[in-house]
Amino acid sequence: MSKVLRDAEKYEEIMDSLIPETKRPEFHLTARVGWMNDPNGFSYNDGQFHLFFQYYPYANTWGPMHWGHAISSDLLRWRYLPVAIAPDSNADRDGCFSGSALWLPDGRHMLMYTGVRNEYLPSGKILGVQTQCLAFGDGENYEKYPANPVLDCADIPEIYCRYDFRDPKIWRTSDGSFRSLISAATTAEKDGHLLLFSSGDGLNWKFEKTLIRNDGRFGRMWECPDLFELDNTHVLIVSPQDMLPADETYQCGNGTVCFIGEYDEKTQTFREKSVQPIDQGIDFYAPQTVLTPDGRRVMIGWMQNWDTINTHTPESRWFGQMSFPRELSVQDGRVVQKPIREIATLRRDPIRRNDVTVKGDLEIDGIRGRRAELLIEIEPLDPDRLYNEFAVFFAMNERFRSSVSFNPKTSLITIDRTDSGTRRAFVHRRSARIRRQNGKISLRLILDRFSAEVFVNGGEQALSMTIFTDQSADGIAFRCESGARMNVTKYELLRDG
Ligand code: FRU
Repeated sequence: MSKVLRDAEKYEEIMDSLIPETKRPEFHLTARVGWMNDPNGFSYNDGQFHLFFQYYPYANTWGPMHWGHAISSDLLRWRYLPVAIAPDSNADRDGCFSGSALWLPDGRHMLMYTGVRNEYLPSGKILGVQTQCLAFGDGENYEKYPANPVLDCADIPEIYCRYDFRDPKIWRTSDGSFRSLISAATTAEKDGHLLLFSSGDGLNWKFEKTLIRNDGRFGRMWECPDLFELDNTHVLIVSPQDMLPADETYQCGNGTVCFIGEYDEKTQTFREKSVQPIDQGIDFYAPQTVLTPDGRRVMIGWMQNWDTINTHTPESRWFGQMSFPRELSVQDGRVVQKPIREIATLRRDPIRRNDVTVKGDLEIDGIRGRRAELLIEIEPLDPDRLYNEFAVFFAMNERFRSSVSFNPKTSLITIDRTDSGTRRAFVHRRSARIRRQNGKISLRLILDRFSAEVFVNGGEQALSMTIFTDQSADGIAFRCESGARMNVTKYELLRDG
């Protein structure tokens, strides 16, 4: 084991023991210590899900990337394993960037990731040359492949930039050979393309073709691709950088987009049929999916956003959390996301109130808390007269609060953390247009100390955000000036019984 890896292991073990459990989310995975971004190598074997993550243990800011590692049998109760790989070899001495994992028939866990080596330009600029590398392990300890990198810029057409060639997603085809889908950007336009590679043995790789091009539609470079079959069709997920806003469906900055289409393994083509955003809130990026043993496709994203990473206090010992795991399905030609059904194992002390008239402000006895699930159905008091706005406030005290609100006249749903206690001046509010128009809406809100995730109308849309409000702010309230009817169920969400 290299000194870089050993040092990181020792450091994270000591520092982890200094972070009390109450200073972390209850059931969302965070950096063990220091910084976390993208989920990596999300995979399943022998009763355990493995989730790796972009990791810099030594600061709560981004730095030379390691892969942190955690396992869980239910995707909610995580146990850290030692840091899996560190930037300690020639091919990746400045960072082990994102990638994916596969379990091989011989029991080895294969990781494919992007190795970064910095180049120091005469202008003083530092740019990382990106290549693809392999590591193999037993689920806890990993060895890098000595002949890394297995793909570099000499393997791809010249139009692509060697500083933008990353985030391999690997899978095996029905004949047992390997494929990898890798993000690249053109040098001239920084346009995102996904490149497909093949390999017979997983070690020797060759460029097949450009599978899909952005052509300027969704931001510039597309990061972190994922491609899988779901409900008799195929879904391709990408995370575009530098998006421009488009009619409340997409907002500026880093976004998440998924295409539904047909991937033909024989001709290696992807035919796009439709496209939609994945999460329309503030903090969600670079998701990966896994197939569970009972056949569900589950997605986890980095519940953060590159433009809003300065939300936390400088003294916090960790930064970066994963989203709640979401079960995906395709319904009426759209991808629907629901919190995984294992959430039932966290639920405690239900409180139900049906047919509540909310006119003005309302608090309900027992409905409060920062680790909670709220299931809310709202409808107009009179079907012919829409209410003006319905708001749910949470993480609330006399001074601070965050909210999710719905205006049936504009069909906009808005999450807002402007008054959450943040001292930073960037995006704290985002709106999305919902797809139904009659003033009826269902909201499912998951709170976990430092975050809020909203699932709209059975998971047709999702909006997530992190909040760092003091935990004593645990009030929840409902507001509708003009009057609406509500059914509400609240559960406390706790890991242990
Ligand atoms: C996405 C990303 C990836 C890259 C990694 C670096 O958030 O920019 O493209 O591999 O983060 O940490």
